[in-house]
Amino acid sequence: MIHIVETITGRCRPQEVYDYLADFTNVQAWDPTVLAARALDDGPFRRGMRFGLKMQIGLRCVSMTYHLVAMDPPKRLVFFGRGASFKALDVIEIEPAPKGFRLVYTVGIAFDTPAGSRLEGRVAFLMRANARRAMRCLRTILGGDDGRLPKPTALTVLADRLVLPGLAGFTRLGYRLARRRWPLAPRPLAGRRILLTGGTSGIGRAAAHQFLALGGDLTLVGRDPEKTAAVVRDLRKQSPAATVDFEIADLSRLAAVRDLAQRLRRRSGPIHILINNAGALFDRREETPEGFERTLATDLLSPYLLTRLLLPTLQAARGARIINVSSGGMYTQKIHPADLNYNRGVYDGPTAYARAKRGLVILSEVWAAELREHNVSVHAMHPGWVDTPGLQSSLPGFYRLVRPLLRTPDEGADTITWLAASPVAGRTQGLFWLDRTPRTTHTLPGTRATAVERRLFLQAVERLVAPYL
Ligand SMILES: NC(=O)c1ccc[n+]([C@@H]2O[C@H](COP(=O)([O-])OP(=O)(O)OC[C@H]3O[C@@H](n4cnc5c(N)ncnc54)[C@H](OP(=O)(O)O)[C@@H]3O)[C@@H](O)[C@H]2O)c1
Repeated sequence: MIHIVETITGRCRPQEVYDYLADFTNVQAWDPTVLAARALDDGPFRRGMRFGLKMQIGLRCVSMTYHLVAMDPPKRLVFFGRGASFKALDVIEIEPAPKGFRLVYTVGIAFDTPAGSRLEGRVAFLMRANARRAMRCLRTILGGDDGRLPKPTALTVLADRLVLPGLAGFTRLGYRLARRRWPLAPRPLAGRRILLTGGTSGIGRAAAHQFLALGGDLTLVGRDPEKTAAVVRDLRKQSPAATVDFEIADLSRLAAVRDLAQRLRRRSGPIHILINNAGALFDRREETPEGFERTLATDLLSPYLLTRLLLPTLQAARGARIINVSSGGMYTQKIHPADLNYNRGVYDGPTAYARAKRGLVILSEVWAAELREHNVSVHAMHPGWVDTPGLQSSLPGFYRLVRPLLRTPDEGADTITWLAASPVAGRTQGLFWLDRTPRTTHTLPGTRATAVERRLFLQAVERLVAPYL
């Protein structure tokens, strides 16, 4: 039997700590060994409730089912977990302390098989190290910020310079490697209102779950009323205490984006976090009824217009954040300010997509500089290669080829959630992130725009959206 005891203190009230930990799906935010956590039963948290965890122990990925076996609010929670070869008992004791709370987390781990028991001595060290890391993250969430900005390692710097190792970092292996060194975890988002586009599928849908698990209030933008309502129903089922609603807009139409912004501005209260996540890649060149090439409209003009129109609402929230979801594909292209609409040359979907996503990263840098004084931070990120319906339908050949290496939507969404919630991320501006680490924006020669090209690009985008402002 491996026995681990860790103690932390922090500034939250004991009741807040208790509520946060009673939702065991939050474990994925603070325990780096947990890849995903889901409630397996509906309804409020109660004795007997089950949670499914996918964990990485050493090089192995294991599934465990945890039961909430005892609860004594706001003092004590007990979870019992069982996997294929071992079981675990987590006892959490919370008491008031002069400046907040004191928490004692005790874990007992026992192996079921004689072979497992023989391994105990060897894995005990690893498990204790994992527990210490998890407690450090939990202290960051519940107790405040340790103020350190994650720095690229020598390996990530090298990966940024050399294309092939860089691409390996886009895979699930890259994510799992990066995850080992995360010192920080998100902090609860209670009281923060998040506007998320593209929350009905793939990465956005996973991000929506993660936001609600952290207690944020969510407004989801979808284009299909039935699909969007069904996703919201599912989100409410997963997080019964959550506040989540939706708006409908086809974001490839700038008039619809303008109407959406108007509706959102009429609502009371600020928007604290805007996630421009909706995006698509098209294999044929098509124009929207407004005369824009569809990728340009959906992936660049729409987030530009939505952000511009919501700026007053964002500025009203102290410390608002804008997160633009770009793509590693953008490394292959530079902006083409004289031909944003892709009228020249033979159309290629991935090229149109990469140009739009490159443009989104440039916009993020420009906004970051402009909005600093308004206390709004702007971030661009890319999720790596993620197994989503969007990737499968837009690049079926690539999808088949790399499928075993793709990240899960939860893994792809992780950096979005972290950028939304981490105190330290909120103090950065205009960086481009992968796996909670700022990364280079250029690896290939000829993709860097000159200052003149950047100015022309901004002028061209402004000209195109001007009729909708
Ligand atoms: N998957 C990857 O490997 C990968 C890699 C790099 C970047 N990304 C980026 O990550 C983001 C999410 O992509 P994903 O892979 O999760 O794709 P996905 O599964 O297709 O999800 C895309 C989301 O955007 C919404 N959307 C697309 N066009 C829209 C429109 N005209 N109006 C309103 N909503 C629209 C979709 O709505 P519906 O549900 O109605 O279709 C869906 O919710 C995108 O910006 C994508 O470019 C993905």
